Amino acid sequence: MAKDRFGRNIHYLRISLTDHCNLRCLYCMPEDMTFRPNAELMQDDEILTLTRLFATLGFDKIRLTGGEPTIRKNVVDIVRGISEIEGIRSVSMTTNGLLLSKLAQPLANAGLERVNISIDTLDADKFKRLTRWGKVEEAIEGIKAAEKAGLTPIKLNAVVVTGYNEVDVIPLAGLTVENPWQVRFIEMMPFGGATEFQLTQMVTADQIREQVEDRFGTLEVVNGGKLDGEARLFRLQNGIGDVGFISSVTSPFCSSCTRARLTADGILRLCLLREKEIDLLTPLRAGATVDELRSLILDAVWEKPWGHGLADGKIAKNRIMSEIGG
Ligand code: 5AD
Ligand code: SF4
Repeated sequence: MAKDRFGRNIHYLRISLTDHCNLRCLYCMPEDMTFRPNAELMQDDEILTLTRLFATLGFDKIRLTGGEPTIRKNVVDIVRGISEIEGIRSVSMTTNGLLLSKLAQPLANAGLERVNISIDTLDADKFKRLTRWGKVEEAIEGIKAAEKAGLTPIKLNAVVVTGYNEVDVIPLAGLTVENPWQVRFIEMMPFGGATEFQLTQMVTADQIREQVEDRFGTLEVVNGGKLDGEARLFRLQNGIGDVGFISSVTSPFCSSCTRARLTADGILRLCLLREKEIDLLTPLRAGATVDELRSLILDAVWEKPWGHGLADGKIAKNRIMSEIGG
């Protein structure tokens, strides 16, 4: 078991398969984003080797992230390889969904259990504005394909940005009336370059909840108010799905965090919003032994920061979201 010094059992690994993306969401990356060359990224066998190591340390839950994980060459084979590793109980993915109409079924066949799909609005023009060129129909087709392939329960992620999609929370929340989905609203977090925008245009979970309640009436608490992963869940009065709020900024869930992140370039990061990183790929390529790598991981986990420092104005500047994996 990998434990940190605060007694948290760290067993959930988010692996970024690539920092590249087929969109440029404006809260995530600049339009002229430069990506890492492929040689700097973990190769397929390196991903599997490192995941095996993590599995021997008690990591049992894997989420594949990006950039956009579905644009990674061989993504289906990587999913299959990971899901066959002894000790891995679940493999899921966070994706923008654009390629799921083709990939949902092959991914499900390869052992993918679920997907979280990012969709910030159902309106075609606003989707294009937020993602800089994306077509909302493709994301919607992706959601349908994921559902058909059994990648359920479907969770949809929406980041709400002042001046862009505040009113869109109503149709998004409304999806849960007819669909057994979880629609989760995420507070925009500040990273590296795009910081000013992220700080001034963040909409809080309370503001979103107020809007949803104004339209749909008082929300019913689900789960006794306990966190489901990182989300607090509610239900519309006539809903069959859930509406969730991920208030990473205004009400952090750090005390119950069990995650570690492996970036696409093979760096272990114990907190999304803290700069500290431990390079695993360089020692792996230099021929480090299994024991050496295991102790690098265990030491890093032990030192996992208690929580992020946004409340004290501390912003992680060394990487943006797509370079860490959401
Ligand atoms: N703050 C909050 N969420 C973000 N995402 C990307 N950038 C940010 C940010 N600055 C979300 C995406 C996706 C997930 C991977 O992270 O919308 O749902
Ligand atoms: Fe790509 Fe996701 Fe970032 Fe949008 S939020 S640019 S889909 S990685």
